[in-house]
Amino acid sequence: MQLNIYKDYEALSNDAAEIILAAVKANPTAVLCLATGDTPRFTYKLLAEKAIEEKVDFSGCSLIGLDEWVGISSGSEGDCRLFLERLVIAPLNIPASQVHLFNGLATDMDAECSNMDQAIAAKGGIDLMLVGVGLNGHIGFNEPGILTDLYAHVINLQEITQSIGQKYFNEAVAIKQGITLGFKHVLQSKKLIMMANGEKKAAIMQKAVEEEISSLVPASIIRTHAQSWAMLDEAAAALINLQILPDDVVVGHNFSNS
Ligand code: F6R
Repeated sequence: MQLNIYKDYEALSNDAAEIILAAVKANPTAVLCLATGDTPRFTYKLLAEKAIEEKVDFSGCSLIGLDEWVGISSGSEGDCRLFLERLVIAPLNIPASQVHLFNGLATDMDAECSNMDQAIAAKGGIDLMLVGVGLNGHIGFNEPGILTDLYAHVINLQEITQSIGQKYFNEAVAIKQGITLGFKHVLQSKKLIMMANGEKKAAIMQKAVEEEISSLVPASIIRTHAQSWAMLDEAAAALINLQILPDDVVVGHNFSNS
């Protein structure tokens, strides 16, 4: 895994947007899987602006949803679908027929999971996946202790995920479960970006980057992917000691050295 450290959230977001843009310039039919949440918000805003400025056409791309809250009405404030529709699908004009998102209200969740697995397989896999990191180290909704040999699945969310998840909603909601791509999808994606920003992510990013790889810190598993980047702003990287990095972490961009 390459570790890139940026001066601030703007620089981090700008580079992440450039990477997505470059991937689509190189492959206009790229299969993208993009996380929701606060971390990539600015990346998507910049991406939409850059796509217009540079006339990069996303209409041949496919978008795969990483995860969704179970039991939340589709299209309601706070759900992952609405987030992606507003920030990614509409601004980038990705056709609905090429968008595959989980329905958190599906009556048959097993079918929902296998439909997603089949949609990804039919597209030849995910070309570029961008994930954020929960305060407990989760990736998508792969919570600590998760098995790494899973494709899409439903999972009980930890208390911390349920309480922090409230920030996306206008009113208190019961979000006890999530539906998510599994680590098999994450690790089979051709390129993988993990993003984190802000002081609040510093402790978990230190564990993810420095400590032994463990499913108790799902973000650490990203290090086993051959084409992966951890992109952090200086605040999220503040506790990482660059002198004692494990062999599977290589420093790429480090603004303090440039
Ligand atoms: C969202 C997702 C989650 C978030 C994580 C960080 O699709 O998969 O794993 O990436 O909870 O959330 P933020 O970015 O809001 O700190």
